[in-house]
Amino acid sequence: MDAIDLLRRQHHEMERALGQVLQAPQGDSRKAQFAHIADALTMHIESEEQIFYPAVKAQRTEDILLESLEEHLSLKRLLADLLELDPSEQTFEPKFKVLKEQAEHHHKEEEEHLFPKVMKLLSPEQRSRLGDEMVEFQSKLDRAGEPRELVVDQTAAAAPLV
Ligand SMILES: [Fe+2]
Ligand SMILES: [Fe+2]
Repeated sequence: MDAIDLLRRQHHEMERALGQVLQAPQGDSRKAQFAHIADALTMHIESEEQIFYPAVKAQRTEDILLESLEEHLSLKRLLADLLELDPSEQTFEPKFKVLKEQAEHHHKEEEEHLFPKVMKLLSPEQRSRLGDEMVEFQSKLDRAGEPRELVVDQTAAAAPLV
């Protein structure tokens, strides 16, 4: 699967899911919806940081990748805070709205500034191999269970660009 198609599709799905969390009835249903989106966001971010970003690192992408890693850090901190809260608590909703806004902003930045550069850097075959590798990586995290818990230990600093 083409890496860019995969990431774009996941952005779209996550934004739809982010839009549904606060529509869900208070209680277990909202909690389950949040856990689902927190897992999806974490798997997406981890696969970008460990597979996609290193593969597309080049002179012309370095600035945007470094900025993206800082945006990931901010998303992880919000996720870690939210995982500590029960959705019925007063701070859950405002914090969740900030997460949603920041995630949307970050997706837009990647789609408008990073992906066009990647399209020039990588051949369709390279993008396809990269996408397959990310799908495999994400399923491994999923099978290990509760991928969202990974963000809790990643809030001190942005991941390095390796
Ligand atoms: Fe990202
Ligand atoms: Fe992304």
